[in-house]
Amino acid sequence: VVAVGYHSEQVLDHCNKPRNMGSFQKNDADVGTGLVGSPACGDVLKLQIKVDDSTGMIVDACFKTFGCGSAIASSSLVTEWLKGKQMEEALSIKNKEIAKHLSLPPVKLHCSMLAQDAIKAAVKDYEAKRANLQPLHQLHH
Ligand code: FES
Ligand code: FES
Repeated sequence: VVAVGYHSEQVLDHCNKPRNMGSFQKNDADVGTGLVGSPACGDVLKLQIKVDDSTGMIVDACFKTFGCGSAIASSSLVTEWLKGKQMEEALSIKNKEIAKHLSLPPVKLHCSMLAQDAIKAAVKDYEAKRANLQPLHQLHH
């Protein structure tokens, strides 16, 4: 860990003990994967959600990142926030909230943006998978 003084207690905590680091099976029907890169720095983040099809609730979340400490902290934090949320609630998680919770300085705002973008991408991926299943159901009508 370089430049420790620069990071808030909250960032240090998540950075040293990341929550829910890992991967789900990308091809599973109940998994949504968001893979995003930050134009500002080139860092990359993969965020995955696992959804209960019958209730639409996010039951689990995990991440992997090739990014800075603030990106690790932002993704670690959102995996905790995502659990138990519906899609719309997940989409309403804004990078400002993340940044506030982690006390990110302005130059690190794009790191929390990466987490917000990854949530959007993961939800979109899950919904696209579901939409592909729709025609099968319609055959019965
Ligand atoms: Fe600074 Fe981990 S807390 S890089
Ligand atoms: Fe790139 Fe933080 S510096 S995500």
